[in-house]
Amino acid sequence: MSQVSRPRSVFIDEGVLDLNYVPPSLLHREGELRLLTSLFRFIFTAPYEMTQRVIIVGGVGTGKTALAQRFGLNLMAEARRRRVRARYVHVNCRELRGSLFRVLLRAVKALKPGFPDRGYSSSELLDTLMQVLDEADEQLVLCLDEVDALIDAEGADAIYNLTRVQEERMEGPRRLSLICISKSLDPFRRLDRSALSTLQRNVIRMSEYTQPQLADIVRSRAELAFRADAVPPEIIDFISELAAAEGGDARYAIDLLWRAGKYADLAYAREVQPEHVRRAAATLFPALREEAVRQLSRHELLVLLAVARFFKHSREAHASTGEVERSYRVVCEEYGEESRGHTQFWKYLSRLRGLDAISIRLQATARGRTQLISLSKVPAEELEREVKRILERG
Ligand SMILES: Nc1ncnc2c1ncn2[C@@H]1O[C@H](COP(=O)(O)OP(=O)(O)O)[C@@H](O)[C@H]1O
Ligand SMILES: [Mg+2]
Repeated sequence: MSQVSRPRSVFIDEGVLDLNYVPPSLLHREGELRLLTSLFRFIFTAPYEMTQRVIIVGGVGTGKTALAQRFGLNLMAEARRRRVRARYVHVNCRELRGSLFRVLLRAVKALKPGFPDRGYSSSELLDTLMQVLDEADEQLVLCLDEVDALIDAEGADAIYNLTRVQEERMEGPRRLSLICISKSLDPFRRLDRSALSTLQRNVIRMSEYTQPQLADIVRSRAELAFRADAVPPEIIDFISELAAAEGGDARYAIDLLWRAGKYADLAYAREVQPEHVRRAAATLFPALREEAVRQLSRHELLVLLAVARFFKHSREAHASTGEVERSYRVVCEEYGEESRGHTQFWKYLSRLRGLDAISIRLQATARGRTQLISLSKVPAEELEREVKRILERG
């Protein structure tokens, strides 16, 4: 269809519904934002004299990432205004496969864009980061989003080293503060007691959004993304009810809004209707987030497909590692990929832990310990379809 004859879309700016969009204001998180801001007040009132560590915890879609990013933007704006040197850098550890090296490289590059990629170890990079901060005379707030991926991949030492690097520089200006974001405090239990106690002093807990709060969030986003009147009030209520039932998940609400808009366009409708929302809900499993699935490597996707295939053809509720591995080999053949060895397979499988769709737990059996894999929140067929779609899109 040509551009000219295409009927009007319900959208005016779809980008506002994108995963990476930072909303201009955070609704119903004023208290949390104020708290976070006050914890970093010293950057302006006593610059270079101290550092801070803060943990933000809360369920999926409770606004953790948005809170941190909003804080970061505000911090940089205030730093410019007051002519204080301060930077905020946000890194998603899961996206970087939990690698401390990549996290540090990202941070160094944010401060020094031309910095070369290779030839360093992570401990050298950590020194480099401090050097770069010294050279620029900066204070840095480094936000480690989805930090559990980092702790999973690198062990507790990674966080420990990050917190210690500042303490070891007894004299001189203080430069490196941390914000850690996680769904729960569990990953931190692997830290030793002193590291834990310094980290846990400041925990900001994000509660689930209520239905009226979700309605406000959806409405404000719809106003930016859609033509006026394209999203009637009852649609906003409908979407926020569905998202409230999904654990107060604002991400799900916004995804639903976007998909419903897509269905409205497909039907050449001038406004979003309840049927479009139902369609959107039927194809959007909250546990199976594009966001998370898109971050998987090809072989991780193949393992996920193997899990889906296993459950599609099985009446069992749980699969053993061996069963999934066999299914993985078949899937690899189908996709013309050479299957990787057991150790590597195991690593792929454990990276899928971050997904809400599948659960992996250790089970003691007569022959030792084994992993039990289950699929609780997504029908196997739906998972298969989504993963195939992503694999085939390349
Ligand atoms: N209080 C809020 N006001 C406006 N938008 C919000 C709010 N909380 C979350 N959102 C939006 O909802 C989505 C999910 O929030 P996000 O911060 O990614 O959640 P989390 O990191 O806790 O999973 C994002 O698009 C975010 O912009
Ligand atoms: Mg997040």
